[in-house]
Amino acid sequence: MSSNVHLLSPVKVGAYELPNRIVMAPLTRNRASAGKVPQSLNATYYAQRSSAGLIISEATQISPQGVGYPATPGIHSQEQVEGWKLVTDAVHERGGKIFLQLWHVGRISHPSLQPDGALPVAPSAIAPAGEASTYEGQKPFVTPRALEITEIPGIVEDYRRAAQNALDAGFDGVEIHGANGYLLDQFLQDGANQRTDEYGGSVENRSRFLLEVTEAVTGVWGGDRVGVRLSPSGTFNDMQDSDPQTLFDYVIGALNRFGLAYLHLVEPRVPGMSLEEPNRPDLPSSHFRSIFNGTIISAGGHDRDSGNALLAEGSADLIAYGRLYIANPDLPERFAANASLNTPDRSTFYGGTEQGYIDYPTLELQSA
Ligand SMILES: Cc1cc2nc3c(=O)[nH]c(=O)nc-3n(C[C@H](O)[C@H](O)[C@H](O)COP(=O)(O)O)c2cc1C
Repeated sequence: MSSNVHLLSPVKVGAYELPNRIVMAPLTRNRASAGKVPQSLNATYYAQRSSAGLIISEATQISPQGVGYPATPGIHSQEQVEGWKLVTDAVHERGGKIFLQLWHVGRISHPSLQPDGALPVAPSAIAPAGEASTYEGQKPFVTPRALEITEIPGIVEDYRRAAQNALDAGFDGVEIHGANGYLLDQFLQDGANQRTDEYGGSVENRSRFLLEVTEAVTGVWGGDRVGVRLSPSGTFNDMQDSDPQTLFDYVIGALNRFGLAYLHLVEPRVPGMSLEEPNRPDLPSSHFRSIFNGTIISAGGHDRDSGNALLAEGSADLIAYGRLYIANPDLPERFAANASLNTPDRSTFYGGTEQGYIDYPTLELQSA
């Protein structure tokens, strides 16, 4: 691979020519309205970050059942579509591109967040270790209800409708959130999926739901405007699997048939995101390079140098930045100037208002 490839070189991703290889990672910030509708505050935040080659939105519920946290946005009502138009218009006005991340949390929810106080749903009735984030603070996870096989087509349809809504809201594409222990990942990994029907057991069966969702979503958008995010090494949200390498080798190979815009991989040992689990093998993007035939985005713990090194080595095509994007709205400009970076303030990551959201200064403001 050519070492001329670097963060600021242009790249073709699916249907789009992007001006650089710097991606804003999906970041839940819990600042939608009480009705889970995006607002002008959110439009300002995303517009400030529109010099990214690609923005991936915060995870967004495909249905009222898909919710897992306070004040996260949805894409299942007309009001939400209208709210997201504020965001897509603001990003497009500044020349940016934005994909919506499609989300169903499965068992990482709580009855107090669910319609009619229902139990969260999951592949199997297995409670994850840990606590749910509710409007009344942290509460132990409950044992979820295992989905009936007859309910699965309805959830695939929720993904399809949400993808259609994202198209109507003016997004440039969608990313299917198959990472970090949420519903699709719960189906993939056998620590959460102990079904005995055709959605459980073999790696082929456990991959079936993700592949059906991908089929439905690419049916709306075409493969070249759809990405899939996976975290093969992640144990966040109590994920466990007896043989993650065999599982992810299979599922990533199976995704080739869709001609996706990209595969988005969370790298091993993302600081602060995954628990150390000694028996979990490291499955970095370099491992999947020969299995996936398309564009790869690498996320997790990157700075400017590690991003450039991975691109030069050829293990990934774009680099996603999470926490650095929270604090540096003009990250490409800062990387271009090799300028210093603002430090993200953890206390304002999840929830709140303007503070810690739209008030991080650009380089230009700092030097004025
Ligand atoms: C505040 C915060 C919110 C996040 N929200 C999401 C999300 O909505 N969807 C997702 O796939 N990952 C989410 N992540 C994970 C990030 O996309 C990224 O993978 C992680 O932060 C590691 O990258 P970094 O080291 O550049 O921050 C979140 C991370 C943080 C810190």
